[in-house]
Amino acid sequence: MPENYAVKFSLAGRLCAVTGGAGLIGSRICACLADLGADVLVADVDRERAEAVCADIAARTGRADAARFARFDQTGLAAIGAAVDELERTFGPLWGWVNNAYPRTGDYGARLEDVTPADWEANLSMLLSGYCLCANAAARRMAGRGGGAIVNMGSIQSLVAPEFSVYEGTEMTSPAVYTAAKGGILMYTKYLASYYGASGVRVNCVCPGGVANNQPEPFTGRYNARTPLRRMADPAEIAPAVAFLLADASSYVTGAALAVDGGLTAV
Ligand SMILES: NC(=O)c1ccc[n+]([C@@H]2O[C@H](COP(=O)([O-])OP(=O)(O)OC[C@H]3O[C@@H](n4cnc5c(N)ncnc54)[C@H](O)[C@@H]3O)[C@@H](O)[C@H]2O)c1
Repeated sequence: MPENYAVKFSLAGRLCAVTGGAGLIGSRICACLADLGADVLVADVDRERAEAVCADIAARTGRADAARFARFDQTGLAAIGAAVDELERTFGPLWGWVNNAYPRTGDYGARLEDVTPADWEANLSMLLSGYCLCANAAARRMAGRGGGAIVNMGSIQSLVAPEFSVYEGTEMTSPAVYTAAKGGILMYTKYLASYYGASGVRVNCVCPGGVANNQPEPFTGRYNARTPLRRMADPAEIAPAVAFLLADASSYVTGAALAVDGGLTAV
């Protein structure tokens, strides 16, 4: 029998950075990792919201430094390597890296026919290249120490294209660049898992379905009807999957896509 299984889910003493840690999903990931004992870096461009997340986590865990704000901007591709270096110089060696930021341009939601090449390039750079270069920079450092874990936030759109009928009668759509980026993130996850497997660095992708965030009817009714669990996700339901993939509980899991989607991609 292996050692105590509960220990395998613990992240005690592990330093983990969560990009976009101040956001809807990221704030729950930070809280979940801290509850499991991790020292969390809320790596975000939004200091005010990140500091509020840190304060909430200090209160819930009773550990004043369980979560700390680390200003981090993943959009400056050329600066990412130095920024990850700086995080490690300031806070110490990272065990875990969660790519979860969600930068996008002002006209991100434009119809496919109206997307300009410049917008396409800017969004793809932020949504895909930013994730790839952050993962790359973190994995290289972890490999030098003989271990670590990276989780990339994908989407159901890493696995399937949007079903546009769910948006009818609303202002909502799903930009093509999002599907292109999320599909790319899953394949890059597999590439990096293969490249760094022998170095003890695991790289996985969590693929959430739609998260409830006051979306309008009739979208929610249609979305729920085509989802086996008949509802959207609560933002707190994504975090435990991320924690599992960072912890030793998933020590033989790498290059995987873990759908957290109420069964949407199963049917
Ligand atoms: N919300 C959903 O329904 C849903 C579904 C599937 C996947 N996802 C994915 O989950 C992740 C988080 O989404 P969310 O809904 O929580 O987004 P959100 O907008 O609530 O949060 C995103 C966070 O990223 C931060 N951010 C923006 N630009 C940044 C940059 N350049 N560098 C660092 N941080 C930056 C923002 O300040 C914010 O705190 C994204 O990868 C998204 O694609 C979301």
